Amino acid sequence: MDSVMSCILDRRSVRTYNSKEVSKDAVIQILTAANWAPSGNNMQPWRFSVVINNKEMIKKISSLTVYHNWVENTPCLIAVFLDTKSLDDKIPNIYLKHSQSIGAAIQNMLLAAHELGLGTCWIGEILKNEDKVRELLGVSEDLQLMAVISVGYSSRKDLKSKRNDISENIVSWL
Ligand SMILES: Cc1cc2nc3c(=O)[nH]c(=O)nc-3n(C[C@H](O)[C@H](O)[C@H](O)COP(=O)(O)O)c2cc1C
Repeated sequence: MDSVMSCILDRRSVRTYNSKEVSKDAVIQILTAANWAPSGNNMQPWRFSVVINNKEMIKKISSLTVYHNWVENTPCLIAVFLDTKSLDDKIPNIYLKHSQSIGAAIQNMLLAAHELGLGTCWIGEILKNEDKVRELLGVSEDLQLMAVISVGYSSRKDLKSKRNDISENIVSWL
């Protein structure tokens, strides 16, 4: 991968994985990228729970989303949480800022994984089952589920996506 820009443009959501395992080292690199995201007041409100090469647990978690057919074939899932203990009411818009920080962390994860040759998909649909995900992973109620990210080696190379032309999204240029 020669530049951040090509990494951004080449990345696609991957929903079909081959059986190759994901290494612990790759997961640590992906989480390190997340950890270096910017965050409001550098409060780093993100927390992670990793399920790797654990078919039984991946099957249980995948049953909590309508996308279970492909999620259950993923070798690694990373749940991303917001630590609600870090929601300091003295800081205006803290929840919004923390949510934005976690979005930045997740995007870093997707790009770092792509650079490592791994595919990912950001799964938001599972948020409706936040309590059950937390219970399966054995994490504290102080952690709010923000996303589950699937990570694995893509079995397809021809993935396509599209975007509106940027000119449609620029509302002002003064
Ligand atoms: C907040 C958020 C939630 C998402 N939730 C899901 C999801 O539940 N299931 C899914 O298959 N893809 C999900 N996606 C992936 C989007 O569908 C995908 O990014 C979009 O269609 C653009 O495709 P691309 O990532 O290949 O460019 C989600 C993405 C974001 C940012």
